[in-house]
Amino acid sequence: MSSTSDLPMELPPRPTLFDFHGVSMIKYFTDNWENIQSFKARPDDILIATYPKAGTTWVSYILDLLYFGEADCRSSIPLQERVPFLEISVPSRPKGKDLADQLPTVPRLIKTHLPVQFVPKSFWEQRSRIIYVARNAKDSAVSYFHFGRMNRVLPEPGDWSCFLQNFMQGKMVFGSWYEHVNTWWDQKQTYSNLHYMFYEDLIEDSGQEIRRLCSFLGLSPTAEQRELVQAKVTFDNMKQNKITNFSTIPMMNQSVSPFMRKGRVGDWKNHFTVSQNEQFEEDYKNKMRNAALVFRNEI
Ligand code: PPS
Repeated sequence: MSSTSDLPMELPPRPTLFDFHGVSMIKYFTDNWENIQSFKARPDDILIATYPKAGTTWVSYILDLLYFGEADCRSSIPLQERVPFLEISVPSRPKGKDLADQLPTVPRLIKTHLPVQFVPKSFWEQRSRIIYVARNAKDSAVSYFHFGRMNRVLPEPGDWSCFLQNFMQGKMVFGSWYEHVNTWWDQKQTYSNLHYMFYEDLIEDSGQEIRRLCSFLGLSPTAEQRELVQAKVTFDNMKQNKITNFSTIPMMNQSVSPFMRKGRVGDWKNHFTVSQNEQFEEDYKNKMRNAALVFRNEI
């Protein structure tokens, strides 16, 4: 049973959104800005970039296992330390940029939710490989809503209908989903070291997506190694695994909503009313004009 008295005393109040160079942000992702912008990427770094809730943790763990397996010396290190979150800077926690600087691994796996225009320029200069994971807008909104409820690093999400309006208007931490997925898609046309993949494809056939990732990364695991990775990264296994379920983060109240929540395509149907869906679809058509970028709301 959880009550507010169980929460650690030092938890700061929820942050508020503000406009940051045209993108809605909160201080926890802008406070360390100069240091983030001057981050020195290396040619062998791998950046995992997403709009929040697109499957960042899933792909991070797949890459971590493909490169490093489950060596004993790493077995107790949580994923958020193996794959640091570049822009995060919250009180009493190590800054993501510092964790990334200190990573002893080669390659370094680094996570970001930054819109493409905010990515430190050294990643482009060094031609580091980037994996962008995208998820359909409706499931992203639902997942983000529940994440906001349980994670005090984020602003209060309000009720679902208010949250959905804000989502459509891009009043979200890291800005507009529509802008994010489209501008990263455009980047792929000119930056060949970018692999753009979809959460829905991973759900449908994780084996195939792992093979595609290996091909992009130039990795040649045996079929047995690939199958082992595939088995470790199922939703149920990652939900049980302390390394991947974020159960050690005090700012997250998993009794409100677990980090590993549903892990499905189409949960939006349990949240959207008929009229919300109609309004969303209409607005979506106006914002998503690139015929080549197609999302699946169900599989
Ligand atoms: S974050 O906080 O932005 O980094 O979150 P992110 O990891 O991008 O996304 C969290 C959602 O991904 C789901 N997830 C998975 N789904 C299927 N299989 C696996 N293995 C898996 N791992 C994470 C997670 O449950 C969140 O989605 P929802 O819809 O909320 O369940």
